[in-house]
Parts: sequence; structure tokens; C-alpha cells
Amino acid sequence: MTMWMPDLSTEGPRYRAIAEAIADSVADGRLAPGEKLPPQRRLADELGVTTGTITRAYAEAERRGWVEARVGSGTYVRSSDGNTGAHFLALSDARDGVIDLSLSLPPPSQLRAESLGRALRAITEDIDALHRSVEYQSEQGTPAHREQLAAWMGRLGMPVDPATLLITQGGQHGISLALHTLIRPGERIAADALTYPGLISAAQQAHIKVLGIPLDDEGMDVDALERICAQQPPRLVYVTPDQNNPTGIMLSETRRLQLAELARRHDFLILEDGVQYLPEAERGTPMHELAPERTLFLFSTAKILGGGMRIGAMKVPELLLKRMGGALRAQSWMVPPLMIETVCRWVSSGDAGRLLAWQTEELGARQRLARERLASFEIQGRPHGANLWLKLPPGLRSAAMQASLEHAGVRVTSAEPFCVGSAAAPQALRLCLSAAPSRDILGQALDRIAEALETPPALPWNTL
Ligand SMILES: Cc1ncc(COP(=O)(O)O)c(C=O)c1O
Repeated sequence: MTMWMPDLSTEGPRYRAIAEAIADSVADGRLAPGEKLPPQRRLADELGVTTGTITRAYAEAERRGWVEARVGSGTYVRSSDGNTGAHFLALSDARDGVIDLSLSLPPPSQLRAESLGRALRAITEDIDALHRSVEYQSEQGTPAHREQLAAWMGRLGMPVDPATLLITQGGQHGISLALHTLIRPGERIAADALTYPGLISAAQQAHIKVLGIPLDDEGMDVDALERICAQQPPRLVYVTPDQNNPTGIMLSETRRLQLAELARRHDFLILEDGVQYLPEAERGTPMHELAPERTLFLFSTAKILGGGMRIGAMKVPELLLKRMGGALRAQSWMVPPLMIETVCRWVSSGDAGRLLAWQTEELGARQRLARERLASFEIQGRPHGANLWLKLPPGLRSAAMQASLEHAGVRVTSAEPFCVGSAAAPQALRLCLSAAPSRDILGQALDRIAEALETPPALPWNTL
């Protein structure tokens, strides 16, 4: 794609000529509404002017209403109705800049904002719901909200008793709440040696040591955990049994039974994280069914509706419920009832179901696309999972590959942030297929990845 260049033949200050060239280019169609203007430094270099001149030019164009600057993103052309066409920007945005596959986000869809709008409008028309939303409510969430969330979870194949639910501000809050409430500083917990970084960081905050348990094709090596238990059992074991983040590995049924038995024998708790949603057919027997008396189960709307909702539900064993509720109250009284109500409306309108059906199909298609484009490489991931784990061919190092991909316009994550303790990181990358703005753009990213793997970067060396 060639970069837009202003025609600077007009008289007067350069910044004004550039600003006016933007208006002219919009008028003659060389710049389309919603199009991103070139990065300031690049345009400055091309034109042989200072970056300050371009900053001033873009500011002038914005003052005149021709463009809109978005923090951290760039400057975009407005249409004659003042709209920057933000929803359709993702494509040109991604073509110009980096395609970010580094964050595990649900796939973008117009339906998210639209259905959130419908849920909010329904609430504004219900005076009782508005009254309830401004009042203090129970720290566990109101019985009605818990019932609605439990019913939804049931339809998603996760039957839970509403009385055992504690509504949280998402999965991360549930993790942090469990660690702060149930584990004392200095105590030890265990997790897969490669695990969700939010667990590692919550444990650090709570001054809790995490032991990394090796994992193989069947998930956590429970025999290795048993050897640790023989010395000193951890207080809690964190697992993502259906889909390890980042590797996508599923804990086998045998290991699940073994883990439940070990937990009873050594009296440790299990924190089962089901935040990364998978369709029921792709899940195994939940740990909270195998060891209900000692398993806390985390569910979140983040990967279904969107990360900004900050609503999760944690199934808590009866004996711990009061303690957990008390801790949540001590932190923030309760989760904002308005947000819970919004999620419940989103679900009861049927919009959440429609969104999830679309998303599941979309993720399946993205996983298939990745298997096709990266067929000659070692990859693993669940058929409808958000992430893909790419083991690098022998001789390649993940830090160098990650940097080289960034240069090629694709952002991915190395194994490093997922490593527990100081264990060596495997030479692998996590690709969040779900985060690409569209399937088309994902295809472009995968092609760039395949190309980079076939022509690996020369390793820099500057040390004697
Ligand atoms: C395994 C896992 N658990 C928990 C979370 C955090 O979920 P939430 O956004 O609901 O706090 C994430 C987010 O990526 C995750 O991947």
C-alpha cells in the first residue's frame, strides 16, 4: 500500500499546506473517510520537514474538523458527516501497522457494542432495575442475579447451584480474591510450569510462592506434583483443565481423577479456571464435579461478551463461601449491580447466545485457517480455542523470532511471561488467533509468520 503524500506546491507555512492537502485529498478521493494518516515521523522524513511541522499540520486539520486523532492509535480522516468510520478501520489499520496477536481477546464483532446498547436501553426503561442498581446489594450478588447467571452457565453446560456462586469482577478478580483469602503470605501453591501470567502476578502480589509443575501432552504431570506433596503439599493447585494458557494442552481424564484423589489425600484446594471458554463438547469432566468440596471454579464473561464487562462468577465450596464473601465485601462491598444487570439483560435478550454461536464458529474457522497456513510447523490448540501454540523449528529462538515478527508487522508473545519461577522458557510463541480484527487480516499475519519461519532472522551478536 503506497503511503499518502501531500502535494506541497502551495505558498505559505508548511504545516498549513499539509493540513490543506489533507482536505484536498479527501475531496478528490485520494484519502478515504476512516483512513489512517501516515505516522508523523515517517511523513516528516519523506517530506524533509521536522516531526513538529507534521504534528502542527495534523492538529490544524483536526481543528478544522477534517481528521480525528485517537490516543495511542493515530490520526484518521473524517467523513463529511464527521464520522471516522471507526468500525471499519480495523482493516486499513492493520494493513498499515502491526497486527496484534498478543492478547487473548474475543474476536471483534459489531454485535458486541450493539447488543450492549440494547441491554443498557432495556435497563433504562425498567425503573425497578434502576432502583436496584443504585442501592447496596449483597456481597455475593443478589439471589435473582445469581439465579440468572447460574441458569446461563447451565445452558452453557456448566450446571451450578446459584447458592454457591459469588459474583466477581471477572476471572482475575476471582483468582486474586481466592489467593488473598485462602492462602497466607509465604505459603505455596502449584500450577502448570507454563501458566496464565495473571495467576503468577496475583500470587506475587499476595506474597505467595508458585511451584511450577511440568506438563506433557496430558497436561499437568500429577506424579511430579505427588512427589512435591510427599515433601510438603501446596495449599492450592491452580489448573486450566480444558485448555492450558498458553499451550492449549487439555488435562486428560485420568490425570483429573488422579488430581482429585491427590487433593483429598493431601488436603489441598483446587482453583479451576474456566475463563477461556470452549464449547461443551470440547471440555472434560470439570474438577468441581470431581472434587466439589475443595474446588473453586472460575467463570467469566470476558471471553464471551467482552473484557470490559468485568463480570465473572465463582463457584465456591459451601464451607468457604462466607469467608470469600466477607473478603469481597472488605475489598469493595460488592460488584456493581448495574454491570451484573447489564450482563443478565444481554443474556436474557438472546443476544449473548447469538454472539457466542457466531464466535464459536469464527474461532473454529480461524483455527482451521491457522492449521492450513502453518501446516509445515508444529502447532497445537483446541479446535475452538482462542490461542495457538507454535513450537519453533530447531535452531530458532523465540526472542529473536518475536522481534523479527514485530518488524514484519505481527505482534505475538513468547513463552517467557507464562513461565513459573525461573524455569527455562521453551522456544515457542503464543498466537492469539481471536485477536485479529478479521479472518482476512489473520490470514495475512499467518502468511507473514510462515514466511519469517522459513527465512529466520540472523541472530545479532555484539559480544566477544
Ligand atoms: C486463563 C485465564 N484466566 C483468567 C483470565 C482473566 O479473566 P478476566 O478478564 O475475566 O479477568 C484470563 C484472561 O485472559 C485467562 O486467560
